[in-house]
Amino acid sequence: MSDLLLLNGPNLGTLGRREPEVYGTDTLADIEAAVADEVAGRGWKVVSVQRESEGELIHTLQANYDAAGAILNPGALMIAGWSLRDALASFPPPWIEVHLSNVYARESFRHQSVLAPLANGVVIGLGPLGYRLAAQALLAKVPT
Ligand code: DQA
Repeated sequence: MSDLLLLNGPNLGTLGRREPEVYGTDTLADIEAAVADEVAGRGWKVVSVQRESEGELIHTLQANYDAAGAILNPGALMIAGWSLRDALASFPPPWIEVHLSNVYARESFRHQSVLAPLANGVVIGLGPLGYRLAAQALLAKVPT
């Protein structure tokens, strides 16, 4: 069975309670269930990891080089997560960057991701649906 890595960065473990007017009321568990539902037909298992620190996210990437694909919401590490960027540069599976909120409609420091140039795709501003769409994109991209 192939694994889909669902990787969430700092402050995303509190979804549901964290600024619901910005991020909505779905919890991370809701998002995990939605992604699992999306990829069940292909027989993929979702490996969901949320960490507050960049180093732990890097360790998780390094331990999952054989995943079929990955969905990454890096949180604020999008802004200056250079070590995470370097780890992603040698991460073999296809991966999609997701942001729940429309970062372009927010503060200017959120307008540029140092990670996005390496991603196979980016989904921004569609709330939890973005994770489902990223899963669909990976299903389409990875050969059966
Ligand atoms: C976020 C957007 C980031 O700017 C912010 O730091 C987050 C969440 C999003 O999903 O909209 O933590 O990645």
